[in-house]
Amino acid sequence: MQVHNNVIAITGGAQGLGLAIAEHLAQQGAKLALIDLNAGQLEAASAKLADYQTEIRIYAANVADEAQVEQTFNQIQQDFGQLHALINNAGITRDGMFIKAKDGVVSQKMSLSQWQSVIDVNLTGTFLCGREAACKMIENAQPGCIINISSISRAGNIGQTNYSASKAGVAAMTVTWAKELARFGIRSVAIAPGFIGTDMVLSMKPEALSKIEGMIPAGRLGTPQEIAHTVAYLLENDYMNGRVIEMDGGLRL
Ligand code: CAA
Repeated sequence: MQVHNNVIAITGGAQGLGLAIAEHLAQQGAKLALIDLNAGQLEAASAKLADYQTEIRIYAANVADEAQVEQTFNQIQQDFGQLHALINNAGITRDGMFIKAKDGVVSQKMSLSQWQSVIDVNLTGTFLCGREAACKMIENAQPGCIINISSISRAGNIGQTNYSASKAGVAAMTVTWAKELARFGIRSVAIAPGFIGTDMVLSMKPEALSKIEGMIPAGRLGTPQEIAHTVAYLLENDYMNGRVIEMDGGLRL
């Protein structure tokens, strides 16, 4: 699939990885639909990308809300008349130990709201946006591509019961969609970033971050641009399907 002139929706597109992906694709002439919860950050992202001579529209929506997601993709279809790709990137962390205990006394446990909020955005949000994007692609009778952002944490990471479970689910949905949607000409692939220099990672507990940094064979955090570069490659290579690309500098948790 070519990037130039094609319509690409990006969730979480107003900040972090999503914004870096948006900038990289805008440079290549993609038409962008940026979806994010934060309307103010969407306006700022749109202003930042205004110099690229391409069409960029913004949509404030909660990806975990079914009605809002349906309405947003209907609006994108109405505004652009087509949808070629979705970058399913919106995600949050609410890190905490599963259980904290000393000398047989439990002092803390991961709360249900800590669990649910991450599952809602990362797993349900990816499901809803993937579903609505695929509906549009099928109704338009056009080939498409869905790129889900999973994580190295899908293998299981201390302090991330919620996030790890959500990102393992995202990886599994990617493979399922590749199998189900191939008949409609829709590819589904995922990227599992390692530790990338975004606010999400840089706001980790400093001891935890420096411990992780010391374990990365590449010797540094990844950059958002390196993930954006991988997104473009996955869009452009029509034989990439049903796989999770690990972009982690060689780190294994
Ligand atoms: N290895 C071994 N032991 C560990 C550990 C580790 N990686 N992390 C924590 N522990 C131990 C601690 O030593 C501590 O042991 P004691 O009780 O014996 O002292 C115990 O577990 C509790 O840990 P904390 O003191 O750190 O507990 P806390 O409540 O202050 O903080 C936490 C918990 C918020 C989960 C914190 O440990 C943390 O931030 N960990 C890092 C989680 C992480 O990797 N997040 C990635 C965010 S970025 C991202 O998610 C993007 C992506 O896709 C990769």
